Amino acid sequence: MTIRTVVKNPNEILTRKTTKVTKFNQELSTLLEDMYDTMIDADGIGIAAPQVGVSLRVAIVDLGEGEEIIEMVNPEVLETEGLEVEVEGCLSFPELYGEVERPFSVRIKAQERDGTWYELEAEDYEARAILHEIDHLDGILFDSKIIRVVDPSELEPQEEDEFV
Ligand code: CO
Repeated sequence: MTIRTVVKNPNEILTRKTTKVTKFNQELSTLLEDMYDTMIDADGIGIAAPQVGVSLRVAIVDLGEGEEIIEMVNPEVLETEGLEVEVEGCLSFPELYGEVERPFSVRIKAQERDGTWYELEAEDYEARAILHEIDHLDGILFDSKIIRVVDPSELEPQEEDEFV
């Protein structure tokens, strides 16, 4: 178990478009495991490789509560539907929360850590977390999409750890 340092804004690596993964090897598995440990340690529900200082197209979403851990290697958005405004936070922006408009549902394709392609459909907060992470992989940060900054005192208790 290795907890890596979370890269905080501002940092050039967070705004750089990541490189696609071509080697599905032990190094990739270790990266995914370290990202997971780092995310859990930071009370996050998602994390992207640039947030641990690695500019590769790799991200994880795990909403907890028995939901499956979603490992995304080279993810691409295939389709989105609807729009919804919800509060988001980000592990790279401590203390910043804001309302962001995103599609309500999403269909993506991505690879497993062994290179197998899969498709996934998600809705609501899971879709939001997936889209937030894919934005990270394109060097897009959530502060550029905030339509209203939310004071932490306005948050529902369970929202405080909805960092992605
Ligand atoms: Co984030």
